[in-house]
Formats: sequence, C-alpha cells, structure tokens
Amino acid sequence: MSRRIFILALWIRVWHWINVLLILCLIASGLSLHYARPGAGIIRFSLARDMHNIAGIGLCIDYAYFFIGNIVSGNWWQYIPRPHGYMQRCWVQFRYYMWDMFHGAPHPFPTTVADNFNPLQQLIYWGLMYVLMPLMIVTGLTYLYPTVAPDRWFGVDGLLPIAFVHFVTAFLIFLFVLVHVYLGTTGDTLTSKISTMITGWHEEEADACEPLAQESGLAAGATATDVSKS
Ligand code: HEM
Repeated sequence: MSRRIFILALWIRVWHWINVLLILCLIASGLSLHYARPGAGIIRFSLARDMHNIAGIGLCIDYAYFFIGNIVSGNWWQYIPRPHGYMQRCWVQFRYYMWDMFHGAPHPFPTTVADNFNPLQQLIYWGLMYVLMPLMIVTGLTYLYPTVAPDRWFGVDGLLPIAFVHFVTAFLIFLFVLVHVYLGTTGDTLTSKISTMITGWHEEEADACEPLAQESGLAAGATATDVSKS
C-alpha cells in the first residue's frame, strides 16, 4: 500500500525552479568572471558580466518572492528546527545518510504534511535561505552599486571584504547544490523527490509511517483533503 500526500504548493515549486535556473546562470557566469583572463574563460567576459548582473537581479526578486511567500503562507515554520531532542534526531538522520540508507533501512523521519523536512534539512535549508542567500545577495548588490561600500574597511579597500564574503557564500551555495542534487536522488526511487518538487505530491510506502499519516498540521498551500491513500 502506498501513501500519497500533497506537500508543496505551486508557489514554492515555481520559486524553486526559477531559483535553480538563476543559480546555474550565476555559477557559470561567476566562475567565468572569477577566472577571467584575456582571451580565456568559460564565457566571453562582457557576456558573463551581463548574465551575472541580470541573473543576480532576477535572484533578488525571486528571493523576495520566497521570503514574502514563506511569511504569508506560514511555510517558514518548516525551516525552524524543533528543539526537543534535536541533536539526537540530527545524529539519527546523519547515520541514515552515511550508513542505514545503503542497507535498505526506511527513512527515519517520514515526510508528513506538517513536517516535510528531516532535522538536517531544517538546519541546512535554514542556514542556506536565511543566512547564505541574504549575505550573497547583499554583497552582490554592493558590488553592483560599489559607491555604497565604505572606502576603507578593516584597513583594506572597502570592496575587498565584500568580495571575500560574496565569493565564500557563493562557493558554499555551490557545494550545497552538489550535495542537494545527490540527496535529491535518495528518495524511494531515483526520481521520486524530483517529481515531488515538480508536482507537489509526495508518495511512499505507507508501512513505515502509518501513524504519522494522521498528523493534522498543514504545509503551505496544502489542504486536509489533499491527503489521500491508494
Ligand atoms: C539542479 C538543481 C536542483 C535540484 C535538482 C533540486 C532538487 C530539489 C528537490 C528534489 C527538493 C525536494 C526534496 C528535498 O528537499 O529533499 C528540493 C527542495 C529544496 N531546494 Fe532544491 N534543487 C536544486 C537546486 C536548488 C538550489 C540552487 C537551491 C537554493 C540555493 C535549492 C533550495 C531548495 C530548498 C530551500 C528546498 C526546500 C523547499 C521547500 O519545500 O520549502 N535547490 N530541491
């Protein structure tokens, strides 16, 4: 018997896939700009600069949409680690990724409408969306309008610390994407998580999580009638 629940509202899916396109453009153009040499680079310098500026502005708008959407829908709650036994639950999830997953063990924290992130996802998505992304956006905007940066900062040119933070946050986001795409293939089948991110519906064998299916909290945009069993 399988369990099918609706967990991702359309607005989150639209935000996510626009975000993916923009981040990929930013990574390709950003690497090109970072390693630019006369006559070298993955993408021509002037094209990479325009791509980076346009995708960067697009990312600011998409992020504002994500931020407001999370407040309005209450989805921000998904990102807050639940305090009770949190470290213990992180350890269980970590052990699952490192060992149990390869030995056919069921997911330790089955997805529910109320809680669709596991404890590690809560922490990492929170750090990503509420620390790294804002830092990358603010430093990127400062780069776009350099006159707002102080002339000198920490005894060096004011733009240098900005450049450093921009590079480090972008690099961490790049690392996140690599791990995130890999973990996106660790659902019940290779593509089941990706298909959830496209359709909003999460499907899994019910046996492992029958009691949890009764949970009554709602994810953003999901309704109680969306919960169905087949
Ligand atoms: C090719 C690139 C990407 C793929 C294939 C992908 C795939 C997925 C999948 C399958 C999920 C849902 C399952 C899960 O969380 O385990 C997800 C959720 C999520 N992804 Fe991605 N992702 C990509 C890039 C990104 C990027 C670049 C970011 C942010 C910088 C991002 C941020 C998120 C967030 C915050 C969620 C949770 C959304 C929510 O439910 O509120 N993803 N992604």
